[in-house]
Amino acid sequence: MKNYIKNAKKTLLGNRRKGYTLPTNNKLYPAQWNWDSAFIALGYSYFNLNFALKEIKTLLDGQWKDGMVPHILFHNTNTNYYPNYTAWNCGNKIHSSGITQPPILATILKEILDKNKINKKQLLQIKKIIKKIKKYHEWFIKFRDPKKTGLVSILHPWESGYDNSPIWDYPMDKVTVEENLKYKRADNKVINPAHRPLNIDYDRYVTIKNNLRKFKYNPIKIYKSSLFNVVDIGFNSIFLKANKDLFDLLNKFNLDKTKIGRYIKITEKNILKLYDKKKGIFFSKDIKNKKNIYVPSITNYFVLFADLDKKSINNRLIKNLKKHNLKEKYFFSSIKPSHKNFEEKRYWRGPVWINCNWFIYKGLMNKDNLFSYKIKKKTIQMLEKKGFYEYFSCKSGKPMGAKNFSWSAALYLDLKLN
Ligand code: DGY
Repeated sequence: MKNYIKNAKKTLLGNRRKGYTLPTNNKLYPAQWNWDSAFIALGYSYFNLNFALKEIKTLLDGQWKDGMVPHILFHNTNTNYYPNYTAWNCGNKIHSSGITQPPILATILKEILDKNKINKKQLLQIKKIIKKIKKYHEWFIKFRDPKKTGLVSILHPWESGYDNSPIWDYPMDKVTVEENLKYKRADNKVINPAHRPLNIDYDRYVTIKNNLRKFKYNPIKIYKSSLFNVVDIGFNSIFLKANKDLFDLLNKFNLDKTKIGRYIKITEKNILKLYDKKKGIFFSKDIKNKKNIYVPSITNYFVLFADLDKKSINNRLIKNLKKHNLKEKYFFSSIKPSHKNFEEKRYWRGPVWINCNWFIYKGLMNKDNLFSYKIKKKTIQMLEKKGFYEYFSCKSGKPMGAKNFSWSAALYLDLKLN
């Protein structure tokens, strides 16, 4: 048992660079990613609190003046990654992408504080971090929900982190690829292309990115003009939980929490508009094309993580969750295997992802303890048997994508040691 823990720590330390950590040490992701970094910080908190805080601090060093925290920070500009820093052409102090990612920092920070002794110097550092996270959340509220509906939009599939999920098939089909588009993918040279997004996906990712760039990433303009604008239930669940955790942190540090408190109330009410009572499931909304999106993605169940005070809805969800793919040997598949667009091995179109299991495990903790424990046990077993890979087949457990994957190692530590 000890060896697995030792290996998880070694994985994180092996991927660590100057004050930040790569998602993996192969050539696939040679930069700092937003939500990866947050999970990584949680992993560090089990053996080096200063590394955990430094990871978060470095990520926030890349925060834009308006509050946005980019999805990628290019600390090292000499890599083959595409789209690289010149393709994005933006950043504040650090070259970055021009979009964000699921805001889990507040939740992770709260987890870290709840279980660690903090010294005075660290407390000061944490207060600064909390102020920056507050600015980040206020940026979401101001620019990604201009009508104050309580639900925020993402303007690029990359913002979800589940890049090529079938959830985006409908809105992505509507994106006309830019004429004479020229770029060179690097990811499919490192990883088996059958396990990565398709070329047509990349054509559209780059087209959407170029359009955002055309508007110089001006947050008001791109909300209206992005070729992609979706209110995703998974993303909003993460944001709701993060707002609740931020509220607690603000309270603890005597900082103003009125705005966040008000927004939580609107979200709690309006998130229910994404609930289909008949089916007992949540759905997402394509704002750009005015269409509801019903795709059986595991991310729809992140609502459990958001801790809605609705017992009957939660119970209904749990009942449906138990039918997601428990018949398969490994769970949870990112997409329900019976769905027409499920693909066993392609990135976010079917494989099991450790962070998804983590969200669900956490979400079930105070609702169905036995089920929650089962997920934790199965996830730990899979990682110990297959290694800290990026994703896994739900049918065979076949490990895929990058090996030495940081968040798989980091979340292993949390599952095993908390
Ligand atoms: C990638 O490069 O595949 C990332 O998921 C984009 O953020």
